[in-house]
Amino acid sequence: MSDHLIQKLPLDKGLKIESFIKKHNISITLKKNSGKTLSKIHKVSFPRHWTESYFNSLIDHPNYKIFSASNENTIGFLIILTTKDISEIITFAILPQMRRQGIGKALLTKSIEWLISKNFSYYNLEVSAENITAQKLYKTLGFIQVGIRKNYYKSQIQRSDALLYTKKLK
Ligand SMILES: CC(C)(COP(=O)(O)OP(=O)(O)OC[C@H]1O[C@@H](n2cnc3c(N)ncnc32)[C@H](O)[C@@H]1OP(=O)(O)O)[C@@H](O)C(=O)NCCC(=O)NCCS
Repeated sequence: MSDHLIQKLPLDKGLKIESFIKKHNISITLKKNSGKTLSKIHKVSFPRHWTESYFNSLIDHPNYKIFSASNENTIGFLIILTTKDISEIITFAILPQMRRQGIGKALLTKSIEWLISKNFSYYNLEVSAENITAQKLYKTLGFIQVGIRKNYYKSQIQRSDALLYTKKLK
């Protein structure tokens, strides 16, 4: 990965998504990505990472859509499963050194815009009760908590609840 990708972008809290993307030369696309790239980002983002071959199986499946954020290289991605008019976030991660600069918000916003353009009704997700960062982002974009799965996630040391969030798209 080239050095400039490791550097932080300046914070632009006031900028709208389109201006943010343009200003920082980030592209958000639905084009094919490699399982290798996705698994590398996933590995540094979650305690239990998914294999390259698992990502390749999602890439090849018509019901999964992969939004990638790139700035020369891929710096983050969001995968959704689409069934009828409901979509669900399967996984979502930004490279650690690129976080807290608005890229996750831009990626999520683009996926919402795409789902609305395709006439989807609901956008669902599940997040650990301990993942305050992600919950804050989801709430900012209008997701509301609708349920809870007690002790759903298991780490090496403890269990945590899964919170179910949804956003009505129309
Ligand atoms: C969750 C994640 C994708 C967010 O990506 P990001 O690019 O850092 O998010 P953004 O910079 O767009 O932040 C958007 C908002 O999220 C919230 N947020 C992001 N990072 C935060 C942090 N460290 N602490 C508190 N809130 C945070 C804030 O509300 C922020 O808006 P603000 O900067 O205007 O306050 C990223 O932290 C990540 O990859 N985490 C590890 C994997 C993960 O938890 N994925 C989600 C699984 S459900």
